[in-house]
Amino acid sequence: MKVLLTGSTGYIGRRLKQKLLEDKNIELKLLVRNKNSVRSNLQNKIEIIEGDTFNKDSLKEALKDVDTAYYLIHSLSNENYKDLDKISAQNFLDIANECGVKRVIYLGGLGVKNENTSEHLLSRIETGEILSSNKNVQTIWLRAGVIIGSGSASFEIIRNLTEKLPVMTTPKWVTTKAQPIAVDDVLSYLYNALYLEKKESLIVDIGSEQLSYKDMMLKTAKVLGLKRWIIPLPFMSINLSSYWLNLFTP
Ligand SMILES: NC(=O)c1ccc[n+]([C@@H]2O[C@H](COP(=O)([O-])OP(=O)(O)OC[C@H]3O[C@@H](n4cnc5c(N)ncnc54)[C@H](OP(=O)(O)O)[C@@H]3O)[C@@H](O)[C@H]2O)c1
Repeated sequence: MKVLLTGSTGYIGRRLKQKLLEDKNIELKLLVRNKNSVRSNLQNKIEIIEGDTFNKDSLKEALKDVDTAYYLIHSLSNENYKDLDKISAQNFLDIANECGVKRVIYLGGLGVKNENTSEHLLSRIETGEILSSNKNVQTIWLRAGVIIGSGSASFEIIRNLTEKLPVMTTPKWVTTKAQPIAVDDVLSYLYNALYLEKKESLIVDIGSEQLSYKDMMLKTAKVLGLKRWIIPLPFMSINLSSYWLNLFTP
């Protein structure tokens, strides 16, 4: 099976790359923006295409002869990420269709569209909608919330606050519920989506029990053998809490 992995230098993609390399049934191709970001010992073993989703020629080369393609990218580092994400997903889908790609696997955020949906999540949802909009290309759209694993931003915030502060006065958002999931479980879902015997496009929500950020910090403290007190303050603003995070987390 010929598989294209995008986002292979990212948090999720570089871990998935290792898993895909272990599967002898897979002929792996990577689309990267900078070829030098790939370890030199891999450069002779697998096909690496330099380019990006805004360069259609590089996309054609990357998606040529591919059976399944992973879409693990976003444009969040740009101010106009919402527009860029739409163009990126549409280019990817159009060329996947042109090249006869059978399946696209996408990991987006967990949540639905309503008046409280953040701009960031909205853009992830729009990306999934675009990728799922052509009936000739099956899209398996996995949706995950907080990912627990070393190096994940939300996890590092939880870990650092819990380790450093015996007593925490926190903003109201600590009562917001999320469905955390371990990064290894995310990787299993992404990997197994390759072999799923389904023909139609799917949306699959993944995650564990619903936990508030406060619960997550208290559970983390327990695992670390620490006793912690968390006092939510209703008047603490977003600005104030960002200073707080700047001070106590990397
Ligand atoms: N991390 C999480 O906690 C989390 C939680 C839920 C869902 N997700 C979803 O998982 C997916 C991957 O997230 P991540 O955290 O792994 O992202 P990440 O660490 O920020 O990596 C993003 C990757 O995308 C590549 N990229 C960006 N724009 C590109 C373009 N136009 N063409 C080609 N490559 C491009 C980057 O390449 P360069 O190295 O060249 O910059 C990088 O490899 C996203 O869809 C995200 O919404 C992540």
